[in-house]
Amino acid sequence: MITFTRLAALLALLLPVLAQDQEDASRCSKIPDEINLTPLTDPFTFFNGQRVNSKSDWTCRRAEISQLVQRYQLGQLPTVPSSAVKATYFEESRPKVNVAVTVGDKSISFNVTIVPATEPGKDSSPAIISVGGTTIPTLTGVANILFNNDEIAAQTSPSASRGVGLFYDLYGKDHSAGSLMAWAWGIGRVIDALEKLPEAKIDTKHLGVTGCSRNGKGVLIAGAFEPRIALTIPQEGGAGGPSCWRISDYLARKGINTQTAHQIITENTWHSPAFEPYVNQVGILPFDQHLVTALIAPRALYVPENDVEWLGPESAWGCQRAARTVWEALGVEDRIGFDQTAVHSHCLFPESEVEGLTAFVDRFLRGKKVKTDGYFKTEAEYPDYSDKFWRNWRVPTLR
Ligand SMILES: *[C@@H]1O[C@H](CO)[C@@H](O)[C@H](O)[C@H]1NC(C)=O
Repeated sequence: MITFTRLAALLALLLPVLAQDQEDASRCSKIPDEINLTPLTDPFTFFNGQRVNSKSDWTCRRAEISQLVQRYQLGQLPTVPSSAVKATYFEESRPKVNVAVTVGDKSISFNVTIVPATEPGKDSSPAIISVGGTTIPTLTGVANILFNNDEIAAQTSPSASRGVGLFYDLYGKDHSAGSLMAWAWGIGRVIDALEKLPEAKIDTKHLGVTGCSRNGKGVLIAGAFEPRIALTIPQEGGAGGPSCWRISDYLARKGINTQTAHQIITENTWHSPAFEPYVNQVGILPFDQHLVTALIAPRALYVPENDVEWLGPESAWGCQRAARTVWEALGVEDRIGFDQTAVHSHCLFPESEVEGLTAFVDRFLRGKKVKTDGYFKTEAEYPDYSDKFWRNWRVPTLR
């Protein structure tokens, strides 16, 4: 029989061990509030499980991501031979370009307006294509090209806008592309036209693209799918832009009023109908917006962001940190900036982001020798955020 004394002696022996266990646990890593998280997809592992070990592997991985994103989220980007595009320069209070595209027996045409640069170059100026209006400050030495994305593909509502716009006049209203991809196509045709028109005085080797909010979503996609864009500036695009579906879902489940995949398809025609089966199970998609973003690498990207709840600010932060690992692997992490200013009106470009914007524009559009590191930052605080919850990959050095 165990006597009381012996029991007490046994307890005395065990207690320090138990206390030590507790002490150890307090030093261990914490689990997230919700453990139903699917990490972001590894950029450096092919769909078939092989590792990405070199720059040439990345070229193939990039092509694979592009195909997957077209198939499951954005729809197909049609290729167009340059000979199918007719460009006409004219002036009507301002310089304009008419872009006419013929595919088979169908033709469409639209105009873009050029706002010439203050301090233009002799033969040509770098330019920023503004998608759906200009919301960034005027930049010295850079022309502004006004692109009306809504006429290429409408964005009013799913019932009013699916298959509506010049893109669908050309390719049929059942084409798989949603509005974001249709706009990327349109921007590609504007560049085709500018390449044919020396009189437009645009340096097509130094082109940027920008736009805010819904148009900012389109800007990220244009940068991802149009390799002739040297600098992509998606402003406050949130979900469908720099935010990741998986992280935004997590924020929404935590009670933060964040735009998610299952909401976005009910709001508009930005995505392909092919995306719809996945919006309640984004964790099974073989990519997320960090990989869509990574299609831009090694070209330059500057993401001016906000802390508006609906954009999923923590999602944009985590998603772009994940995307940046690709620039890191390619040895060019100073070509991606993320500048998140707290508390300013949506699409009203804040003073605090002007320095970063100017640095990226000066370096990548105006060819100046300026530094662009130090612009990956946020003013917000995310005490719950941990890269480890979302990323389970090692960043290789790709040569
Ligand atoms: C382009 O501008 C010309 C000249 O003003 C005009 O006649 C034409 O209708 C415009 N095209 C479109 C598609 O708006």
